[in-house]
Amino acid sequence: MSTPKLSPRRETFLSFQPPAVGEEEIEAVAETIRSGWLTTGPRTAELEERFAEYVGAGHAVALSSGTAALHLSLLALGVGPGDEVVTTPITWPATANVIVHAGATPVFVDVRDDDLNIDPERAREAVTERTKAIMPVDLAGQPADLDPLLELGVPVIEDAAHAAESVYRGRKVGSIAAATCFSLYATKNVSAGEGGIVTTDSDDVADAIRDRRLMRRGHGSLYDLGVPGYKANLSDVLASIALVQLAKVDRHREIRERHVALYDAALADLDGITPLARDPRDLHALHLYVVRVDAERAGATRDEYQRALADENIGTSIHFLPVHRLSWYRERYPDVSLPVAERAGDEVLSLPLSPAHADADVEDAIAALRRVHERFA
Ligand SMILES: Cc1ncc(COP(=O)(O)O)c(C=O)c1O
Repeated sequence: MSTPKLSPRRETFLSFQPPAVGEEEIEAVAETIRSGWLTTGPRTAELEERFAEYVGAGHAVALSSGTAALHLSLLALGVGPGDEVVTTPITWPATANVIVHAGATPVFVDVRDDDLNIDPERAREAVTERTKAIMPVDLAGQPADLDPLLELGVPVIEDAAHAAESVYRGRKVGSIAAATCFSLYATKNVSAGEGGIVTTDSDDVADAIRDRRLMRRGHGSLYDLGVPGYKANLSDVLASIALVQLAKVDRHREIRERHVALYDAALADLDGITPLARDPRDLHALHLYVVRVDAERAGATRDEYQRALADENIGTSIHFLPVHRLSWYRERYPDVSLPVAERAGDEVLSLPLSPAHADADVEDAIAALRRVHERFA
């Protein structure tokens, strides 16, 4: 009797999220370099104009990173020492780090079990007279539930690093919060390699960020300084990549939708492997395909699944470990207990998702996941 034939192991490693760039980006960079303008200049201005138009905001300010976007948004809204900022632990640590950089105190509240976005009810309970901002994250591309957060009467600084295309209840992400912060990091849906953008309808917020990203010369030959700012501007070389990426966003979305549909169909019968919820009232950016591995039903832990998939040549990632459990925060906030986030931190696993993948790559990832699941479950 022959043993059942297993799906073939991939010969080459499938990267979790390779950048989706090609000849158009290369040509755009070459053109910018030929123009002689390497630092912030006309390409950055064009990106700001196009991005503001894309999200329907009064202003878009381009910066060196999503982290800088979050940091300068806090400063622009006057957040400083003695203030508290309510945020989610299920995020890249940058979201919390910038609160510390601003001299304020991060107040972590628990997330909702279905989409792992900040729980508005927990946020409401955490607001005090010292709360100067709320920083939700649109995890994986699912917008946070913004309406109940906006009702709290505290400025919302939205971390939309994953949410370039997202729409919340008919309103484009980027046009809703006091400041919305996008990342142009290499893996993001609109990428420059590195970079960030803040969108806002407030002239004051936009001006305060511009004043802090790079010293602005006044009129005439003398220069002056209103505020000691940072060096957080975006170069035209990178802006030219982001401009091409922005123009491709719909084309890339079609690929993401196809790959997500393949995963959704395959996962329906894998016990203990469940994707995060996507709210049908919203447009999800499909930036990440995050599943939760329930060790009891799936027969092994997330870490065991991740290792087994790596053995199958399938790259995965983790979004995210709860920030309050990372050493620096744990030492300073040892009493913070957020059971939903902590359990999720043990279970989340992000499967390969990128417009640079072929359908066959996603099928390989699915076949490997099936094989691993058969072995464990
Ligand atoms: C949720 C979230 N917030 C903020 C950032 C920071 O963005 P950047 O890497 O552009 O500084 C990232 C990741 O890159 C992120 O995933």
